[in-house]
Amino acid sequence: MKSKHLLLAGALAAISATSWAQTELNLMTNKVGAEVQPTMYGIFFEDINYGADGGLYAEMVKNRSFEFPQNLMGWYTFGNVEVKDDGPFDRNPHYVRLGNPGHGHKHTGLENEGFFGVSYKKGEEYRFSVWARVPDGGKARLRVQLVDPQTMGENHNMGQADITVDSKEWKKYTAVIRANETVYKGKLRIFLAKPEEAKVDLEHISLFPANTWRGHENGMRQDLAQRLYDLHPGVFRFPGGCIVEGTDLDTRYQWKNTVGPVENRPTNENRWHYTFDYRFNPDYYQSLGLGFYEYFVLSEEIGAEPLPILNVGLICQYQNDLSAQPAVSELEPYIQDALDLIEFANGDTTTTWGALRAEMGHPAPFNLKYLGIGNEQWGPEYPERLEPFLKAIRAKHPEIKLVGSSGPNSEGAEFDYLWPEMTRLKADLVDEHFYRPEDWFLAQGARYDNYDRKGPKVFAGEYACHGRGKKWNHFNAALMEAAFMTGLERNADVVHMATYAPLFAHVEGWQWRPDMIWYDNMESFPTASYYVQQLYATNPGTNVLPLLGADKKPLTGAEGQNGLFASATYDKASDEYIVKVANTSDQPQPIKLNFKGMKKNEGIKSATVTTLHSDDPNADNSLDNPNRVVPTMERMALENAQDWTTVLPAKTFHVIRFSKK
Ligand code: AHR
Repeated sequence: MKSKHLLLAGALAAISATSWAQTELNLMTNKVGAEVQPTMYGIFFEDINYGADGGLYAEMVKNRSFEFPQNLMGWYTFGNVEVKDDGPFDRNPHYVRLGNPGHGHKHTGLENEGFFGVSYKKGEEYRFSVWARVPDGGKARLRVQLVDPQTMGENHNMGQADITVDSKEWKKYTAVIRANETVYKGKLRIFLAKPEEAKVDLEHISLFPANTWRGHENGMRQDLAQRLYDLHPGVFRFPGGCIVEGTDLDTRYQWKNTVGPVENRPTNENRWHYTFDYRFNPDYYQSLGLGFYEYFVLSEEIGAEPLPILNVGLICQYQNDLSAQPAVSELEPYIQDALDLIEFANGDTTTTWGALRAEMGHPAPFNLKYLGIGNEQWGPEYPERLEPFLKAIRAKHPEIKLVGSSGPNSEGAEFDYLWPEMTRLKADLVDEHFYRPEDWFLAQGARYDNYDRKGPKVFAGEYACHGRGKKWNHFNAALMEAAFMTGLERNADVVHMATYAPLFAHVEGWQWRPDMIWYDNMESFPTASYYVQQLYATNPGTNVLPLLGADKKPLTGAEGQNGLFASATYDKASDEYIVKVANTSDQPQPIKLNFKGMKKNEGIKSATVTTLHSDDPNADNSLDNPNRVVPTMERMALENAQDWTTVLPAKTFHVIRFSKK
């Protein structure tokens, strides 16, 4: 039986005024092809745009260990406050001493400005903690307050707790504070309630919302982690990006500094505080409170395969010439770091690093399967460093799939040099990066059609459409990404992972845009690009199905195809066919889809159509208007249909699930 589905009446009226011919497509339902890898659609995380500190990592105190190079950056002190450097944590030696200000009417204490403010919500609880001691004995009473600097008088204090420090030895003290008002640009104040009692030393001053993701004490922001979970990511790449490389050897990312007690994880510079002069954030450092243990746990909790990326023995090549790089003969500690990371993730609890994992709360292995070595490296210096890593890791851990890089560009000399090198070295996957404009995405629908099927697999590790004309997270960019991704899916035999980048951006602290999820200290909103990623990741199917035009060619946006892109998969679990189709043109387009090769008694009984569309290609979501571009869903019953017709509105992405039940 034939079915006719007229999706939008308005769109139909419009086609009569155009000359677009109907596009006929044949879905070859009996040609179940390559598996779509469970890792196919994932996320890329980097501490850029205040993505970790000031973002996903829920710590509200900036410079909590007084280890920024200016030890009191982020703090405002009053009364008798001294910075000292012989504290209890050897990798974070600084702390503050609060003493008697000398007059009964004066105060001694300090205030933290937080990340763009200490923001708290009425009725919510916050967990305060501090390491403290009374160095000369006695007792010191600390008063801890959430304050609102904009409000004077008794309303100034929006919640408080008192803590009595009564030991000459360093100890951790905790208190819960309930906020009695909502304040965005608040501060955390700590002062001596009775300064004449005793002096007190304070270290690692911390404040978290009680409500973190899954209640972890050293936890993530609930709303942001939930956004990741809701994406259904198959793979989670961390911790970057350029941050892996560092601007110099000391500031490269070293995973061993990020595990163990948070109090003793050394603060690291964040290269994004100075990378772009036009977005200069001198107070941007990495506390490493969100470290490799937390990344692994989060991967597990959001259902994604962890994919750590390690430094290959090259610091940022944009900022350093070869003379600044470690020699190949000096790579042993870097390689050992990689081997030890595998032990940390997978080793049993009798091993050194497996024991640390257990001590941190996760005796079971994390089941690490993938490891990336190097970020955007280029030139012969990269393969010559990568090679000894691959040899050493393979010798000990042949089970780990290793990811190499094709450099910072999607094509060109470096790319053309590195791909054959990665093939020679038998990298399991090759990381490709492309931040490119609309016309690039429109021209790349068939990018992977002719890739070598026997070589390494593709990890499209960083990509986003960067609109021309200074348009950022607007709908049209997301549509370009959706169209391009049909090409990833059609080529799922060779493309095994794809992660949009960057993931997060704070509206007050970004350095790079577009980004997938934006937020301030209280709220967050997904962009149109987020919805594209979510639509793919929640509708991957298990196997590719051929979806061919009358000329037996796929829709790749090629000349003569009117800006249409399409892919299809079969989903074994639900026995559904999933079709993704993007109309990037500015005309509605009639489409007829024939279901070829179904069994005689089979027919399509329902179609669930999810649509991402905006009449305004420049429309974007924002904190004030988070739902300007959101997917809509429509389910329709069909009568044993053998074909399906629709009019695909201009500038629209559809995901359609066809069910035979
Ligand atoms: O995603 C932002 C940056 O882009 C990454 O750190 C880097 O790998 C790329 O150049």
